[in-house]
Amino acid sequence: MAEELLVSTSSDKKEKYNTLIPQVEALTSGEPDLIANLSNIAAALRQTMGFFWVGFYLVKNNQLVLGPFQGPIACTRIDFGKGVCGASWKEKRTILVPNVDEFPGHIACSSASKSEIVLPAFKNGEVALVLDVDSDRLNDFDHNDQVALEKVMRHIEKLL
Ligand code: SME
Repeated sequence: MAEELLVSTSSDKKEKYNTLIPQVEALTSGEPDLIANLSNIAAALRQTMGFFWVGFYLVKNNQLVLGPFQGPIACTRIDFGKGVCGASWKEKRTILVPNVDEFPGHIACSSASKSEIVLPAFKNGEVALVLDVDSDRLNDFDHNDQVALEKVMRHIEKLL
């Protein structure tokens, strides 16, 4: 794996992701352990993008269970269809929430979270895990985040 993470100083989000994504691939190459890889991906995302909370929930026995993350402590288990994470799992799609107060059933792990994006990764057509990114600012995620983070998810699928 790469030992140093190059962090773009650009204020352009797209530019930051362009620097990050090839490094995510390098960071996980040759390492077969999923938890080790997800841990470094969460850290790389936090370090380069400055996210308030970023982490994974893994599908285990019909629940989402907290996995590697960076940020304040979080809820450990989420049921199918519940919250933004459970909805992303159920609907098998990325969900972008500009204002968490307007998302019915949003699970507030931290009252500081204001906007959120959740993306699923698939194994054999089923959701294996989701990536959850929270911001302490309203409307902080856009199409650029979705496109770039979906690339990260397609890479994670190769590690599953
Ligand atoms: N807000 C999420 C729960 C996870 S925490 O934000 C880390 C949800 O509604 O699914």
